[in-house]
Amino acid sequence: MKRIGMLTSGGDCQALNATMRGVVKGLYNTFDDVEVYGFLEGYKGLIYGNYKKLSADDFSGILTKGGTILGSSRTPFKQIDEPTPEGYNKVEKMKETYKKLKLDCLVVLGGNGSQKTANRLSEEGLNVIGCPKTIDNDIWGTDMTFGFQSAVDIATNAIDCIHTTAASHNRVFIVEVMGHKVGWITLHAGIASGADIILIPEIPYDIKKVAKALEKRTKAGKGFSILAVAEGAISKEVAALPKKERKAAVAEAAAKYPSVAYEVADKIKEFCGMDIRVTVPGHTQRGGSPVPYDRVISSRFGAKAAELIKNKDFGKLVVMKNNEVDAIPLSETAGKLKYVSPDDKIIAEAKTLGISFGD
Ligand code: F6P
Repeated sequence: MKRIGMLTSGGDCQALNATMRGVVKGLYNTFDDVEVYGFLEGYKGLIYGNYKKLSADDFSGILTKGGTILGSSRTPFKQIDEPTPEGYNKVEKMKETYKKLKLDCLVVLGGNGSQKTANRLSEEGLNVIGCPKTIDNDIWGTDMTFGFQSAVDIATNAIDCIHTTAASHNRVFIVEVMGHKVGWITLHAGIASGADIILIPEIPYDIKKVAKALEKRTKAGKGFSILAVAEGAISKEVAALPKKERKAAVAEAAAKYPSVAYEVADKIKEFCGMDIRVTVPGHTQRGGSPVPYDRVISSRFGAKAAELIKNKDFGKLVVMKNNEVDAIPLSETAGKLKYVSPDDKIIAEAKTLGISFGD
């Protein structure tokens, strides 16, 4: 008999259900006797012993369903050693629940912070396997996370729709794309939708260069322009500030504007008086059905997780490397982010296509 626990932690995304289905199908086809326990609302469920015993039926028909049948929540890693409001030690409570249920392994579907906690639990002696979830595609050690391609699809559609209205009215449009720390979604959706300017956190922008790129288009007879701007886009001046001052400047802007795109719009208006409209697709980027690519990789990740459990190869994160599914130690990925590098070939290629990064 194998007793496996599973949880989905952090911001939700498409293909969480598809991945869980993959893990469970893999388990049922690997072991004669398996019990699956789903913890509700991420690590919270493990801390408070809130779980459901799941049957094969629970995983039937969920391949295409967005969200997560277990619910999710954020349990920030930096607060993992702070007690719960009731005074419980979170790590000890999680270990207690795991041991009480006599689990053979805990499968964690989560992003960076969630995998840091998974690594901590592994260091504490639990058998843990991680699966790389996030629309941001910023987990170090994997080329791809599930959710990313689906989010790119939605952001691309949003920019495509804006394209037609921008062209009809000769306007400048900013579409704000998710990604506070990294710009992968903005970069891919921007290229996929033919955006003229892409602003991402990893390449701080100079508003004069942004205005120049817009003017160049006007001079070339283009009546409209599209900017794909990441939630975490930052100006060169602010990026150059020491950490404390930078945080204060970002907080000041956050108090003044609903979000970064409005700040960029204001700066452009101030600089060249253009008529700008802002669109923020926001959390729509995390919703709906996973695209086929995500369904495929999440199913492959699930199969790999089952194989790792069979081989008792614990303390691993399932990853995608050069189109092959593999696994790396959780300790290797914990605490690192996969950023876009300004030196990445894709940036040079985008620039060759005439896309401005405002740098
Ligand atoms: O990590 C996924 C993500 O959607 C980011 O792209 C975004 O910056 C953040 O979560 C939003 O978090 P929340 O849903 O907590 O507002």
